[in-house]
Amino acid sequence: MKRTFYITTPIYYPSGQLHLGHAYTTITGDVIKKYHQQLGEEVFYLTGSDEHGQKIEEKAIEKGISPQEYVDYIVISFKQLWSDLEIDYDKFIRTTDKNHIIQVQEIFEYLLKNDDIYLDEYIGLYCISCESYYTETQAIENRCPDCNKKLEKLKEECYFFRCSKYIDRLQQHLKDNPKFIQPESRKNEIEKNFLEKGVSDLAVSRTNFKWGIKVPSNPKHVIYVWIDALTNYITALGYGTNDKLFKENWPADIQLVGKEITRFHVIYWPMILMALNLELPKQIFAHGWLLMDKDKMSKSKGNVIYPEFLIEEYGLDTIRYYLMREVQFGMDGMFTPESYINRINNDLVNDLGNLVNRTMVMVNKYFNGTVQKQNISNDYCEKIKLNIINLEKQYHINFKEFGFTKVLQNAWEMIGLTNKLIDETKPWILFKEGNLIILEEVLYTLLSSIETIGKYIAPILTKSSKLIVEQLGIKNKKCLFNIETNNKYNISKQPEMLFLRLDVKLETEKIQKKMEQQKKEAQQKLKLK
Ligand code: ME8
Ligand code: MG
Repeated sequence: MKRTFYITTPIYYPSGQLHLGHAYTTITGDVIKKYHQQLGEEVFYLTGSDEHGQKIEEKAIEKGISPQEYVDYIVISFKQLWSDLEIDYDKFIRTTDKNHIIQVQEIFEYLLKNDDIYLDEYIGLYCISCESYYTETQAIENRCPDCNKKLEKLKEECYFFRCSKYIDRLQQHLKDNPKFIQPESRKNEIEKNFLEKGVSDLAVSRTNFKWGIKVPSNPKHVIYVWIDALTNYITALGYGTNDKLFKENWPADIQLVGKEITRFHVIYWPMILMALNLELPKQIFAHGWLLMDKDKMSKSKGNVIYPEFLIEEYGLDTIRYYLMREVQFGMDGMFTPESYINRINNDLVNDLGNLVNRTMVMVNKYFNGTVQKQNISNDYCEKIKLNIINLEKQYHINFKEFGFTKVLQNAWEMIGLTNKLIDETKPWILFKEGNLIILEEVLYTLLSSIETIGKYIAPILTKSSKLIVEQLGIKNKKCLFNIETNNKYNISKQPEMLFLRLDVKLETEKIQKKMEQQKKEAQQKLKLK
């Protein structure tokens, strides 16, 4: 049976417009997808929207429309954003999809029948924002340990999921699979803050709002959003209806989440899967936050930057590059307009763009666009070739460990070295002195190095990589790996510049102004409530 590489992102709440933080997770998934495609693997990439719950119901009331109308409206903007960002997802699941609703109900009734879910009464501290109850020990000063908002005391009849039944198995699984939760630091947090303190049974239904999936056998209850939300990862594959698709994809190879929802994904989600007798995902990667002035970029705070504006002004690749280069995957990272513009100027314009452009100009000028590998050995060129081989090894190691920053650092070392080849061999002097064989070998080496670089940045800098490959005259060839590069290049006669130099002060101010304006709009909206 065909086995595909299955990647998921969280399904985002349509409680507002998505921002660069959400784009960060979704771009990362897209980068991982493109790397695995480069290896020749089949990939299935899932994203979507988490549409039920009290918060969404309140938003709709506020706007005077039905929750369904409200989510339909917001989800259009989600899909538009992913299209603007050219995210190549295979499925967009909505928790209001009919099939999802039916499957969630079946799952709930199945768990109920097996006594994994039972009815009881609940009195507890509830966070409306996270749609979650917390124990007294978790809730320091009556505040939500996840988002720090004030908690409310609620009492309701409620269904519970019997976590106690699965805790030992989960602990064992974590021991046997040390890479199940990544990065390591997050795993330690979970063990210390939750597993060691004990995991109480999880409330999985509500009676205080209506916008959700009803418990079929007791319809005054709606199914608590985390059971509804987490199961999207299997209902999207046709769990319960499309056996073939499900078996080809499950278990997931990598599930990406932001660190604030780690607990749901590494404790409750595995337990639900155990209760359903399903395999656990191979890995949950809980990445860090994108910060803005040291605060988490967040829908409710309004301290956000929307990626549409950046793509329009600076191009898609600049954002993909910045996020993958600047934020160490797993750690928190910052977006600052100044470092963004500087990265564009230094790394993309000066290093990469310049290398490609000056090489193309020389190949056209000295050899009318066509160069061949020469049968001579030149020290400088040999050095570059050795580095190409080294780079390939590093590339795969780094990608397997989600070291995107490292992948780019290595590619940029190669760019540096290749730029140095030009400075050291001085092709214009070789030309003047009539050393045409050496000159051709140097230019050939430059082009094959650029071809390699083009391949190694392809999952991240999708557009630039395509442009490079096109300009090198490599047509209809997928950027798959083979060290043996072309023996002959016939390049484009009118190469296009990859990136344009920006005025740091001017552009920084432009972005800052835009951010201020967005913040004001968000605050205005909050006041209207
Ligand atoms: O939590 N930095 O949805 P959500 C990095 N519906 N990533 C960020 C970010 C930031 N500043 N802000 C958001 C939910 N994200 C649930 C998930 S899954 C079964 C249900 C990303 O709209 C990050 O991936 O609040 C985070 O986990 C997610 O958006 C939260 O999106
Ligand atoms: Mg959130």
